[in-house]
Amino acid sequence: MDGPEAVQKLSEAEARIELERLAGLLGAANAAYHGADAPDLSDAEYDALKRRNAAIEAAFPHLKRADSPSEQVGAAPSETFAKVAHQVPMLSLSNAFADEDVTDFDISVRRYLGQDEAIAYTAEPKIDGLSLSLRYENGALVQAATRGDGTTGENVTANARTLGDIPARLEGAPDLLEVRGEVYMSHEDFAALNARQAEAGGKSFANPRNAAAGSLRQLDASITASRPLRFFAYAWGALSDPLSDTQMGAIERLKALGFRTNPLTALCAGPEEMIAHYRSIEEQRATLGYDIDGVVYKVNDLGLQARLGFRSTTPRWAIAHKFPAELAWTRLEAVDIQVGRTGALSPVARLTPVTVGGVVVSNATLHNEDYIAGRDANGNPIRDGKDIRVGDWVQVYRAGDVIPKVADVDLSMREPGAAPYVFPTACPECSSDAIREEGDAVRRCTGGLICPAQAVEKLKHFVSRAAFDIDGLGAKQIEYFYNDDQLPIREPADIFTLKARDEANVAKLKNREGYGERSAGLLFAAIDEKRTIPLRRLIFALGIRHVGEGSAKDLSRHFGTWENLGRTVLAAIPAAATHRAADEAAAAEQAAAAEEGRRARTSELRGRVWAEAGLSEAAREAWEELVGIDGIGATVALSLTDAFGQERERASIERLVGHLTVTPEAAPQTEGSAVAGKTIVFTGTLEKMTRAEAKARAEALGAKVSGSVSAKTDLVVAGPGAGSKAKKAAEMGIETIDEDAWIALAGQG
Ligand code: IVH
Repeated sequence: MDGPEAVQKLSEAEARIELERLAGLLGAANAAYHGADAPDLSDAEYDALKRRNAAIEAAFPHLKRADSPSEQVGAAPSETFAKVAHQVPMLSLSNAFADEDVTDFDISVRRYLGQDEAIAYTAEPKIDGLSLSLRYENGALVQAATRGDGTTGENVTANARTLGDIPARLEGAPDLLEVRGEVYMSHEDFAALNARQAEAGGKSFANPRNAAAGSLRQLDASITASRPLRFFAYAWGALSDPLSDTQMGAIERLKALGFRTNPLTALCAGPEEMIAHYRSIEEQRATLGYDIDGVVYKVNDLGLQARLGFRSTTPRWAIAHKFPAELAWTRLEAVDIQVGRTGALSPVARLTPVTVGGVVVSNATLHNEDYIAGRDANGNPIRDGKDIRVGDWVQVYRAGDVIPKVADVDLSMREPGAAPYVFPTACPECSSDAIREEGDAVRRCTGGLICPAQAVEKLKHFVSRAAFDIDGLGAKQIEYFYNDDQLPIREPADIFTLKARDEANVAKLKNREGYGERSAGLLFAAIDEKRTIPLRRLIFALGIRHVGEGSAKDLSRHFGTWENLGRTVLAAIPAAATHRAADEAAAAEQAAAAEEGRRARTSELRGRVWAEAGLSEAAREAWEELVGIDGIGATVALSLTDAFGQERERASIERLVGHLTVTPEAAPQTEGSAVAGKTIVFTGTLEKMTRAEAKARAEALGAKVSGSVSAKTDLVVAGPGAGSKAKKAAEMGIETIDEDAWIALAGQG
């Protein structure tokens, strides 16, 4: 039917109609493939239609359509929903568990602001749903977006419009207003939905949050409309005019505009009232009719919120006080050892499945070998020193989304003859020695990239959501390609040569089980899409130990480009050894001093080690630049210099970067800033703002803040008591100003 002969018999008019039909079918199939979990055509059917289309086009080239499906292999958008860049990022919250964490939070807020007086906070339930950002322009809802990775979300406007709690129009709102809040499902609606799903033979949802997420993220908005979703407003993003000067006032304003706001939102004068309100909400939790997983506290004064600002992923002015974890008892059936991307051997408990807070748990973490043995990193007993053995009756603990943990063991249930667990000293994956370094709680495989587990985990990390996030290349596919001899992916660079290698191969990916022309084309297109990558994602994706998303962002902000980062890290390599030598000397001195009952004096000693190391000025400066970056310390600096210092690892990184266009970190909005691009050192006491605030302010204005004065320093802000740094600046002729001049320069915030 789709052979050339059949096509030859078509008249020109028939061919035109047929091409139109095929364009429609293939277009719809593409949309279904991207949108729904289950595509409506098999790969084989899709490929047959494609071939027929190509055959007709070959026979009637002049009839080829402008939207010809043959031009669209992999070119179709490779996402389920269109992407939306959030004008103001959607952040997460840091967590408090104990009452003490709440008092500490208040202390840290006041310390940051340098304020002794009490601060007022709002306290409100933390809704367990998914957050949504609603953009209103001139009172009309124009866009709704999910949180996504916080920077980019999914456009779910059509779906959001179907929610009764989301007004289509607002009266008296600022011209631009982004309202943020939580989409959730009530317990009652959740139970009814699952009953309906079961009746219709559809899948049931594990909990109300999954049901809410699954219902909102439907390509067909009429499905969303049929699901009982609700919305509480609790925050905002971009705005043309402030809603109020307090958090409470802003919530009231949102309510007046027609949004549902949580009735349990209260204003508290300080930690004592916050904790009291938390207890009260906790008591009402079971009768609320919807899931909440804690209480969120926010500084009430929006002026103070602005001064406090943000860390890399969380605001300094808010915290989530989580409810205690859920517990259950079950049997430990086995201990498996997983090898992570940094070689860490992690013990995983295989459990007789048990329900903990509504979720079935069959795996839990056992942390590390000391934890199993019943001691902490310093050798002190935990669980009264009780060790954990296979066959034991153990307590499992689950808090929110985090991985469940084995918390306790019931010795009265222990089988006689149960043997203590022996932690392996060789890697279970590659048999290399697994060693524990001084001061490290974790035993690590020494196999590096020869260890398949490490290599695979590194690759999985590389393609993960906060890293390269390649559509169609997840953990499962990484395992598949890693073990594939025809078309292997063994290091990140291999991902970017996949298409070229496939083209050179006789056996093609599209002819494999699980792949067709379309899915292979889409995979190559998704990879191509990520050849251009923001610097911070690249840094994070490398999977260098201790370099998480936060450090990646800090490094990326500081260096701006991959070349700057690489140059400095390479230059700093010789200094890493000196840093370690100084640490060792200091530790030896500490030990000797403790022995002799005197106080250790290590700073001079460290200075001497540095002085005698014979380092080049460039190496020393590069090291100081690295450790001076706000948020980056010696631990990260050592990890970076180690990674770049290892021949094989560096070569692997270089091979990768050769395939990429790395987009530099966008400079913060620094229009009119007198300090953008300058390197500033703060020294001495600041009296009107804390050091942390001054640093954050300088960075927000586009400056770099460094801990030490060097040739790169442009400006020194010296408060009373400034010592050697101010002196060095004077000697070097670097401009030095006092705090008042700094405030005049930086503005009040
Ligand atoms: S405030 C800048 N308030 O919790 C912080 N978040 O862990 C903006 N959430 O992504 C968030 N209830 O999805 C805030 N009353 C509440 C909340 C709440 C639930 C969610 C939200 C956020 C996550 C952070």
